[in-house]
Amino acid sequence: MLRVGLIGTGDISNLNILGYIHSKDTELVAVADNDILIAAGKLECWGLKSLKIYEDYKKMIDKEDLDIVEILTPHHLHAPMTEYCAKAGISGISVQKPMANTIMDCERMINACKEEKVKLKLFENFRFYPIYLRAKELLEKGIIGEPLNFRINTIGMGGPSMTVGLRAYSWRINMDTCGGGPWVYDDGQHKLSVALWLMNEERVEKVHGWVDYFTGVLDCPANFFWKYPSRNPDDLPKYGTMEFTLATNVYYPSNYYNCDEFIEISGTKGMMWINQCTAGGNFLSETPQYPPIVVYVDGDVQIHGKDLPRDWRYSFINSTEHFIEVIKSGRGEPIYTGEQGKNLCIFGKMPYISSQEERIVYWEEFTSENEKKGALSIKRPSTSQKSGMTKYYVRKSKDMKKGIKQGLKHENFKYDYES
Ligand SMILES: NC(=O)c1ccc[n+]([C@@H]2O[C@H](COP(=O)([O-])OP(=O)(O)OC[C@H]3O[C@@H](n4cnc5c(N)ncnc54)[C@H](O)[C@@H]3O)[C@@H](O)[C@H]2O)c1
Repeated sequence: MLRVGLIGTGDISNLNILGYIHSKDTELVAVADNDILIAAGKLECWGLKSLKIYEDYKKMIDKEDLDIVEILTPHHLHAPMTEYCAKAGISGISVQKPMANTIMDCERMINACKEEKVKLKLFENFRFYPIYLRAKELLEKGIIGEPLNFRINTIGMGGPSMTVGLRAYSWRINMDTCGGGPWVYDDGQHKLSVALWLMNEERVEKVHGWVDYFTGVLDCPANFFWKYPSRNPDDLPKYGTMEFTLATNVYYPSNYYNCDEFIEISGTKGMMWINQCTAGGNFLSETPQYPPIVVYVDGDVQIHGKDLPRDWRYSFINSTEHFIEVIKSGRGEPIYTGEQGKNLCIFGKMPYISSQEERIVYWEEFTSENEKKGALSIKRPSTSQKSGMTKYYVRKSKDMKKGIKQGLKHENFKYDYES
């Protein structure tokens, strides 16, 4: 049995534990959180009260002889925690996205794990969402020919959803602890990952972006587009676009975060639309207009993925199961590797620098050397105001009350731990 410990028992730990709870190969033995009341509350809720709680994660690492550690803390802590775990010889270290706040920190983490011969995983779960896995299979079979253009819109909406504490927002709206903004740099990591993976790419060539701060604190709306690298001069050029939209007046229930994603891919032979991810399973999924995957090719419209679960938690379970197998067998590499995690951080920084400097930015500029010279620092919005988040919450809660008054479905969503 592989012995597993968690560092950080905040919001996302509810989903990260699922794959371990159901695995025959792992045993969750301890958690560490500098707020032990949060940790105790979580253990109670998970039915795991017998697990040990540590206030100091280093003590857990030193005492528990762990094989796997999940790092689920604010971004600025990912690098020092990974280094400590690597030096202690933990076989498998899984760190939540984004890997770190700086390229320098990503490199420190990669080097520490290489030196100690431990496997480093950057945990990005959209890459394992069942419907996205099916879309990838179809794309690999060439269903729409060579993919040429990728578009993804993330819409932040209103309505009942998972409770996200103000605590979890407080470090996200601080550049020093988040590394960028809560939408593009934090949530955006998932979308950037899918934009590379589904298009069969590891990086982009250049980005042009616009990041606004409507609430004064949230980096949304944001729109940016990029070109993928060309391999041969005769290849058709490939592009992508990403949008973050704030539409808090839309009544849109979600079991998880209050947002959803819509993807469109154009290829040399046809088109593919992928409907929903985070809020999959809600009203929209029940309609014939929004099947999981729609493909148009040769005058024909096909529907795919109706046999799959439309529930975001499977992206977590699948990702964890993959990692357990890598550590258990000692074969293969985690998805993602440290290098791939670093690439996602670079991609995540590009739209901000482009927006700040009002120019196209190039991948080659994003190096730790340039970072040391201070060239890549993401600036706080000039509109920053403390009341921004409160105004945003008040607006969202008013819209939800309005939706309920109109008789729209309202449930206090729960998810259990069945797989
Ligand atoms: N994969 C996803 O879809 C997804 C979704 C949300 C968050 N995340 C990522 O998960 C990580 C955690 O996010 P969250 O939303 O759970 O945040 P959170 O604020 O809810 O939880 C963070 C936890 O870390 C604890 N912590 C802080 N400093 C610590 C320390 N020094 N030692 C031990 N514990 C400490 C806090 O007390 C808190 O309980 C972040 O990297 C975030 O980007 C991923």
